[in-house]
Amino acid sequence: MCPGVNRCRICASQLEPFISFGRMPVANGFLGSEEFADEFFFDLRAAFCERCALPQLLEAVAPERMFNERYPFFTSSSTRMVAHFGAFAAQVARDCLAARDPFVVEIGSNDGTLLQHFATSGVRRLGVEPSANVALCAEEKGVPSLRRFFTEGVAGEIVRDHGEADVILAANCFCHLHDLHDLAAGIRRLLKPRGLLVFEDPYLGDIVANAAYDQIYDEHMFYFCATGVARWLERHELELVDVAPQPVHGGSMRYSIGRRGVWPVAPSVQALLREEVRSGLHRPQTYDRFRGRVEESREALVALLRALKRDARRVVGYGATSKSTTVLNYCGITPDLIEFISDTTPLKQGKFSPGMHIPVRPHAQFESRYPDHAVLFAWNHAAEIMERESGFRRAGGKWIAYVPEVKVLD
Ligand code: TMP
Ligand code: ZN
Repeated sequence: MCPGVNRCRICASQLEPFISFGRMPVANGFLGSEEFADEFFFDLRAAFCERCALPQLLEAVAPERMFNERYPFFTSSSTRMVAHFGAFAAQVARDCLAARDPFVVEIGSNDGTLLQHFATSGVRRLGVEPSANVALCAEEKGVPSLRRFFTEGVAGEIVRDHGEADVILAANCFCHLHDLHDLAAGIRRLLKPRGLLVFEDPYLGDIVANAAYDQIYDEHMFYFCATGVARWLERHELELVDVAPQPVHGGSMRYSIGRRGVWPVAPSVQALLREEVRSGLHRPQTYDRFRGRVEESREALVALLRALKRDARRVVGYGATSKSTTVLNYCGITPDLIEFISDTTPLKQGKFSPGMHIPVRPHAQFESRYPDHAVLFAWNHAAEIMERESGFRRAGGKWIAYVPEVKVLD
């Protein structure tokens, strides 16, 4: 590959970025003050491949830098996500596991939140998870976890040791992987002839509709829609046979995939492909408009936080999410504008946010002295949070949202 030329990771077409966020730290790289001097930064830029209908990052951060024994994201930190995965498992068990002695593999199984639900049904399960700390947590729940990055080679080892899979599952994982060709080859190797792959990821249509630019960070290499998924899989004789929107992570899509010609294609697939053409997800101009909205959002958020500071209001952040790293660094939000970020994850508490170094504190500090305003960085969990934090509102506290637009919520 020529130096300085950016190429699509699927078709090798030459790409130009539609958005550049500048130098960014690793989104989940919460750190201690002794680590500030060595903090790692990279260029966060996204480009759109028109041929593949696939937005993607231009610079890849080494996976080991993101997914390691210190990975601080635990799926089970949200009760709503736990319920969501319970329903997901029940649906898979009902619709896809008729075979005798069924075998389910999850790629990116994190702390075992999804696979734990198959425990009672006599289903053989295997998680594949490179981040050792979360994998250990899964094993404590009785979910066998292979501590590896999924590759075609690993798929071969699983087949050798356990046989082919009836179902392969993945949630919020495929968008993290850098080599979609190797992934598809691994799936073909692992899946039974009539097996199904079911995966879900944040949906590009929702990201664009809501100008949810904070979904763009180092871990999210690809931004999927049905058009992009279908085109990617076609190259590997796999077929998109069903789609179902999911109300998690700010809008996700669940894709079901079989070997070509094996399963009937549900009407929902054609309907979504048509809708994506209607909303222009396949056109580069859509992403230029997206950049304009993102720039406006930054101006509005910074102006609001500066105005609150002038009025001597206390502002904190709610949820030290990976998404917040993009917002804080892109907008240049420093600790003088946001006093601290409240988060329930012990591994993040006492540390500082990547890049901007805003302190992360336990939830008790939010509750013991409510601020005047709280920026809802965990906006994808808004319903759960608003319900739990009704006391904050009653005490006169106000939420600040920035997706789909910057707004003080009344
Ligand atoms: P996510 O947006 O990537 O799912 O990360 C959610 C983060 O927000 C995680 O660090 C846990 C934290 N969190 C809270 O602190 N309070 C909450 O009520 C919820 C739902 C999440
Ligand atoms: Zn391409």
